[in-house]
Amino acid sequence: MGPVKSVCFIGAGFVGGPSGAVLALKNPDVEVSVVDLSETRIAAWNSDALPIYEPGLLPVVKEARDAEVRPQNLFFTTDVRGTIKRADIVFICVNTPTKTAGIGAGKAPNMAYFESATRMIAAEADKDTIIVEKSTVPCRTAANMREILHAIGKPGVNFEILSNPEFLAEGTAVADLMRPDRILIGSMQTPSGLEAADVLANLYGSWVPKENILKTNIWSSELAKLAANALLAQRISSINALSAICEATGADVGEIAYAAGLDTRIGSRMLQASVGFGGSCFRKDVLNLSYMAETLHLPEVAAYWQSVVAINEWQKSRFTKRIISTLYGTLTGKKIAVYGFSYKKNTADTRESAAISVVKDLIAEQARVCIYDPQVTKAQIWEELDINGCHLEDVEKYVSIAQNPYDCASDSHAVIVLTEWDEFSNKDVDWEQIFDIMERPAFVFDGRRVIDAGKLQRLGFRVECIGRGN
Ligand code: NAD
Ligand code: UGA
Repeated sequence: MGPVKSVCFIGAGFVGGPSGAVLALKNPDVEVSVVDLSETRIAAWNSDALPIYEPGLLPVVKEARDAEVRPQNLFFTTDVRGTIKRADIVFICVNTPTKTAGIGAGKAPNMAYFESATRMIAAEADKDTIIVEKSTVPCRTAANMREILHAIGKPGVNFEILSNPEFLAEGTAVADLMRPDRILIGSMQTPSGLEAADVLANLYGSWVPKENILKTNIWSSELAKLAANALLAQRISSINALSAICEATGADVGEIAYAAGLDTRIGSRMLQASVGFGGSCFRKDVLNLSYMAETLHLPEVAAYWQSVVAINEWQKSRFTKRIISTLYGTLTGKKIAVYGFSYKKNTADTRESAAISVVKDLIAEQARVCIYDPQVTKAQIWEELDINGCHLEDVEKYVSIAQNPYDCASDSHAVIVLTEWDEFSNKDVDWEQIFDIMERPAFVFDGRRVIDAGKLQRLGFRVECIGRGN
């Protein structure tokens, strides 16, 4: 293959959009097109109101997209087929959510979008093309792709499949893409497979140091992505399991995480106890791994990974139970202020957010729930509660939205912190003012351990934190 002139990202979501933008920024001679079936998503990518909230992303997109600073080489379009035809490399970045029906429902990933993208590439490509799995997929997906490409591809057109999983985290996507811990490229260990891996490595080489680009066999690469997310999620479930012991014994989970994390073999990151991990991937990918083990007749392995998800579910319901019992066993008619609805700070993404489960439980208790989140809209909260099984009449009846933390807390019996947005820390929110406008006793339940409990107690609050007993 000669020099890469044109690449295509299929799927203009949280991965395709930012990844395409950074690749374009760092390779000004390469035409980068990000395509999607959704016209509204593409229109948003072509505007200044990007479809995702990601700090620092807009300037990156504008520099490559707007031809003000340099010639344009980043394009967002719905012309999926035309773009595939021009591309030397096609990255598949479509969603692979957990199946909701059929065999493996609730566990296996739904590969329909991924297969449809593969079929589209096979049908459209007129020249040799490298296809890159960027979506998170089960191990051995490349073997299925190979069959489809072989059956549908035009005569004389060769395809090389690479696995190049994405490791960015939302909220820090730009930094993660600019300075990745590693770039993983899996290929078949054939001359053409290894050559394709070199072509992709060269594109990354324009900004990622060579020693951070790791090449492996394709199955290792596919499985390494699931392994990485499973190991990260497992750390959170482990610290959350310990948080329950802390609450019962008087130990403090922050001190436990700090003491354990000082051991360089353990390390300090991803040990922040919380109301539970959320996001579109941890749960989905751990379940994907567990389901794979099940289908490989490894029930003990499947059960091990399943327990990571089970602890997470338990942690969420444990937190709401603590709220109910602390508030004297009844929430009926009480106003409860919820601070934060996104699954973590610096994103407006609410997929699998712990807030969904907690709010659902509060509605079931007939509490009057008022939610404040600096980035999440009412429409999105309503949609999320709807798809997660709340009746919209109940949502209308019990849930309201506030535009600031003060309206949210006014007349409430408790403030519940569910997302660690910086503004909820003591410096940004005037807790004294909040105390004045709340009912008595005024409770704060910190599901993120971001508030200064001592200071709030001195103001008169009753404070309950994840991982700290009273
Ligand atoms: P997303 O839902 O934000 O975006 C996927 C996009 O693909 C949607 O806009 C959808 O319209 C589009 N799409 C689906 N089928 C299509 C088709 N046939 N042709 C064109 N467009 C199509 O998903 P995401 O969060 O970007 O995740 C994508 C993949 O990357 C998943 O497998 C996920 O596990 C993985 N991943 C996600 C993250 C993350 O932070 N969100 C990080 C690493 C890996
Ligand atoms: C995660 C991984 O960190 C990425 O490497 C991966 O690419 C991505 O999933 C993916 O495959 O989608 P993300 O879900 O965006 O990224 O965010 P994280 O920072 O990992 O947080 C996930 C959840 O765990 C959040 O709800 C967060 O609040 C929670 N969390 C995180 C904790 O409860 N404690 C921690 O110590 C860290």
